[in-house]
Amino acid sequence: MTAEEVKVQSLSLNGATNEEDVVTPWSVESKNDTGVDYEKLIQRFGSSKIDDELLLRFEKITSKKPHQFLRRGIFFSHRDMHTVLNLYEQGKPFYLYTGRGPSSESMHMGHLVPFLFCKWLQDVFNVPLVIQLTDDEKAIWKNLKLEDAIKMSYNNAKDIIACGFNLDKTFIFSDLEHIGNNPAFYQNMIRIQRSVTFNQVKGIFGFGDSDPVGKISFPPTQAAPAFSSSFPFIFKNAKVQCLIPCAIDQDPYFRMSRDVAPKLGFPKPALLHSSFFPALQGSKTKMSASDSNTAIFLTDTAKQIKNKVNKHAFSGGQATVEEHRQLGGNCDIDISYQWLRFFLEDDEKLEQIRKGYSSGEILTGELKKHLIDILQPMVLAHQERRSKITDDIVKQFMVPRDLGFRTNK
Ligand code: TRP
Repeated sequence: MTAEEVKVQSLSLNGATNEEDVVTPWSVESKNDTGVDYEKLIQRFGSSKIDDELLLRFEKITSKKPHQFLRRGIFFSHRDMHTVLNLYEQGKPFYLYTGRGPSSESMHMGHLVPFLFCKWLQDVFNVPLVIQLTDDEKAIWKNLKLEDAIKMSYNNAKDIIACGFNLDKTFIFSDLEHIGNNPAFYQNMIRIQRSVTFNQVKGIFGFGDSDPVGKISFPPTQAAPAFSSSFPFIFKNAKVQCLIPCAIDQDPYFRMSRDVAPKLGFPKPALLHSSFFPALQGSKTKMSASDSNTAIFLTDTAKQIKNKVNKHAFSGGQATVEEHRQLGGNCDIDISYQWLRFFLEDDEKLEQIRKGYSSGEILTGELKKHLIDILQPMVLAHQERRSKITDDIVKQFMVPRDLGFRTNK
């Protein structure tokens, strides 16, 4: 169409056949009890598996045991992670970028996954991190008052900060507040906007003729933070490699970002993709804001946690104790076990539980107790940290500022 147009992977959001799982930024659906087939997704999206070789290299270079999310394949797919490790090995810089579409309801355990992982990566690599709060996205998609969407950003920022991010190395921003004060960010948005056609955005995101133009022009807003020149107060003029940890449903945004990167004269952002955190009712269903029994919220009390797990966590156990003792439980579909994979750090203990449950030695009630014993102190500790995050602390994280980044570090 125009000379400016760049080639964007024609790959649409989803694969061709209707038998497949649906994975888009707006909907994740699977017909299997074990959830989405992630091996297939890697093939469809054209990303790479996080394999043992990458994990060994990670451990060798950082001298740190990989995080349980990596060891257990919860972050299972990547793009260009070897490039990032090469840079780190050579003492060259990179930065982390992640984000969240803020919500009015309190956040739940699943929302913590990318942030817990980013906090760990930030500690291991000692690099700057930018966190985008897409209140603009939420305002457009949910037709919210802009003022309310901004408030949600501030509210969610407290839960994010409570994950323990280092103020000296972390910049958090609300799109609605920040972009208007940052010409460099806006200019990158325009560079991206002129490089992608409506046709391409339709192909990637599935927008239709009746969608508001705000939706159509939003993807470049999520792409812009992947280019270091959007943050001159952090990176000065340096062209710095970006690494984006995110759930794999966000990949369409970053396929687009990677396709326009050479045009902007920037390295393609690298990615670490996570699988989805399952709802209490099972991997086929979704956690839903309107049904508070599908998730454990960061505001839940110890009692609520206990009741929800006991009543609602989908069980891979057998119908009767006798049958269970004889046949054993199915950990692949059992949500208590699946959640323990996320949050129980001790590999040996997890393996004991897996063996015990699979052989029928451990009963469903006992398995649930293990999960409750992990979740209750975790949520309580989060609540205690969050209660200490004042509005003033949130503001400090949101001030555009020098994060001590130097190219010749
Ligand atoms: N669109 C994402 C959401 O709705 C928010 C987001 C913005 C994001 N930038 C990101 C997520 C970068 C991961 C990485 O949650």
